Amino acid sequence: MRFSIYRYNPDIDEKPYMKDYDVPLEPTDKMLLDALVRIKSIDDTLSLRRSCREGVCGSDAMNINGKNGLACITRLADLKEPIELRPLPGLPVIRDLIVDMSQFFKQYHSIRPYLVNNDPPPETERLQSPEDRSELDGLYECILCACCSTSCPSFWWNPDKFVGPAGLLAAYRFIADTRDQATSERLDDLEDPYRLFRCHSIMNCVDVCPKGLNPTRAIGKIKDAMIRRTV
Ligand code: SF4
Ligand code: SF4
Ligand code: FES
Repeated sequence: MRFSIYRYNPDIDEKPYMKDYDVPLEPTDKMLLDALVRIKSIDDTLSLRRSCREGVCGSDAMNINGKNGLACITRLADLKEPIELRPLPGLPVIRDLIVDMSQFFKQYHSIRPYLVNNDPPPETERLQSPEDRSELDGLYECILCACCSTSCPSFWWNPDKFVGPAGLLAAYRFIADTRDQATSERLDDLEDPYRLFRCHSIMNCVDVCPKGLNPTRAIGKIKDAMIRRTV
């Protein structure tokens, strides 16, 4: 199959360029990550991240024929040739397909992605009813791959101010958690022209999430919670 891959090694390249590869694949090479491992065996200067190879670790997120996704769960048979691979848009490139995720994780950590509960810990778990627990479905499954935030124009323009879809999905995961006692502080923190309200419901984030999650809906629910507490 034919590939065109973004290459940039800041130590030796003046600027980025696209490199073409014609790759003889084996019948067992079904996924894009299989092909990338094959390419790396031909050209070991190509740099990329990967780990689990089953859509769990989120490390092989990249821009595939113009759309963000995970190489390990993208079927080669579904891709048009030449397959164009670029790093996730909007984040600084460290080398080839590897981006610097610091800004993404800074925004994620800014929403305090952990349960806040000052009651003395019980002997076992902090229990929830099945109904309360079901409120977290569609929120906790995020693997922090950054496909969504790096496809969001509002995040491209304001990565230091707008939390972005992944961080806001995580924020709602704790707002919706009946065991969390910091709902009011969480909403205060997001009631800001940039942190939450830069989202213009363009829905690129929903379109690319490899886990089928819906950050736009979570963002809408945070806005609803803000309105509810004022009436
Ligand atoms: S819906 Fe909001 S968060 Fe999602 S891509 Fe659009 S602007 Fe970004
Ligand atoms: S919401 Fe989806 S696209 Fe965004 S970081 Fe989580 S798993 Fe990745
Ligand atoms: S290698 Fe872990 S998600 Fe693809």
